[in-house]
Amino acid sequence: MQVSVNTNDNINGTLVLPLWQDSDSMAEGSEAGVPRSLKNQIETILAAGDFKAKSGTAMTLAGTDGGKAMLIGLGKADDATLQSMREAGAKVTASLSKIHGKTITVKFSGMEGDHMGAFVEGMILRDYSYDKYKSKDDDDDSDDSEIHAHVTCEADKIEDLHKSANLSLAVASGVYLARDLGNAPPNDLYPMAFAEQAIEFGKEHDNVKVTIINYEQALSMGMGGLVGVGMGSARKPCMVIFEINPDMPGPSPCIVGKGITFDTGGISLKPPPSMDEMKYDMHGSATTFGVMQALVASGHKERVIGVTCMAENMPSSNAQRPGDVIKTYSGKTVEVLNTDAEGRLVLSDGLWYTGTHLNPSYIIDLATLTGACVVALGHEASGLWSNDDDLRNKIKEAGEHCGEIAWPMPLFKAFEKEMTDSKIADVRNLGAGRWGGSNTAAAFLKQFIPNKDGTDEQIPWAHLDIAGTAWGAKTNKLVKTGATGIHVRTLHHLITGQ
Ligand code: BES
Ligand code: ZN
Ligand code: ZN
Repeated sequence: MQVSVNTNDNINGTLVLPLWQDSDSMAEGSEAGVPRSLKNQIETILAAGDFKAKSGTAMTLAGTDGGKAMLIGLGKADDATLQSMREAGAKVTASLSKIHGKTITVKFSGMEGDHMGAFVEGMILRDYSYDKYKSKDDDDDSDDSEIHAHVTCEADKIEDLHKSANLSLAVASGVYLARDLGNAPPNDLYPMAFAEQAIEFGKEHDNVKVTIINYEQALSMGMGGLVGVGMGSARKPCMVIFEINPDMPGPSPCIVGKGITFDTGGISLKPPPSMDEMKYDMHGSATTFGVMQALVASGHKERVIGVTCMAENMPSSNAQRPGDVIKTYSGKTVEVLNTDAEGRLVLSDGLWYTGTHLNPSYIIDLATLTGACVVALGHEASGLWSNDDDLRNKIKEAGEHCGEIAWPMPLFKAFEKEMTDSKIADVRNLGAGRWGGSNTAAAFLKQFIPNKDGTDEQIPWAHLDIAGTAWGAKTNKLVKTGATGIHVRTLHHLITGQ
């Protein structure tokens, strides 16, 4: 989507008119430039109460003189939130059809700057589809060109809205990238394919350094978690390290992503229904890459690190077995009781490597880690665990601001105890019982957060379980289908304050 912001009264293409609930006329100042017959139609419909402008509603009108309009319901002004505004903006994009054409003019009048910004952000975020693998018929005359959105508002609000629209476009480029990676089929997006794309990204930007730890290196470095999960696949595992502005001084935020490009469960094979969805099991790594893209696009100047732990979890004669004991990069041993609890194994190496080599101010990992998290929170929120109250609060606030809820979950000592009482190793990768599975998974990860140098206090760390939010939320109005790009915006906001 191209977005231009101005005070011009000209209406290019379809007029989009956002309206508060129960408006009985057009807002003052918004009539300028509207063709007479269209204006009469809009006024008649509003005066008669035929469009109530409830949130989530839209109506298309066509004037006799050729003008077209889309009325968009914002709901009650008193109930408006940034998220309701994003959803109203998304409704515009979702409702655009052939008759509206690809050029629209959104006329804001008397609206708060933040609300207008969120509306435009919603239009942009909903303007995504994954069509890479669809062939186009010769007789298909559908117009797949870009949408041109002209946005107009009062002169004194133009500059702020212009800035906010540009920021939304920059951050959305990271969201789109995360969605592209998440949606990619697992035969094409395997660990080294992700690494190749990261290397290209590094070449494209002077302020980005990308380093790969390949399978052989991981083996010789003793990354038994990453190697154990990935060795059953012909497509070997790797770790990808992104450094944005590597020459700026640390300590710096570090984002770590689970990147299982396909999770069959391994020898602890998953049941067939919905197994195809396990292509999304790399969404933690997709979000990590997306955050890097968003930071570069928005011109962030500080050092930020991303680490993704890439592997394909397959059953084979060379796969790890339930009962195996592996030695992780931290030196701690893990009894692998279920090969389907693989995300925590690859992350154990990624977290320890990040903590000991990359000078973090804090570490945040993202992982489609447990079905139990979906049981607990449905598709409405990611689970959020942290060893640091301040970090937890900041992530929660950033998530709320962006409409990407991260909901605090507990790290009770009992969960850690449960995960460290293996009879033959330091840690077990499966809880003793089936209850609280997302909490025991988080407690497992906590064992792999190093202490701050020379102290017995751990590096501030938070874990986001995105199993329910990475795809499949029918209530997420900013996404048509497939991967959501969850938390690219949360983390960009947390890191930059923008
Ligand atoms: N990738 C899955 C978790 C998952 C399941 C995400 C469904 C989204 C939807 C993960 O690797 C897994 O299989 N976890 C197991 C852990 C169990 C064996 C302790 C699970 O959740 O069942
Ligand atoms: Zn699994
Ligand atoms: Zn998994």
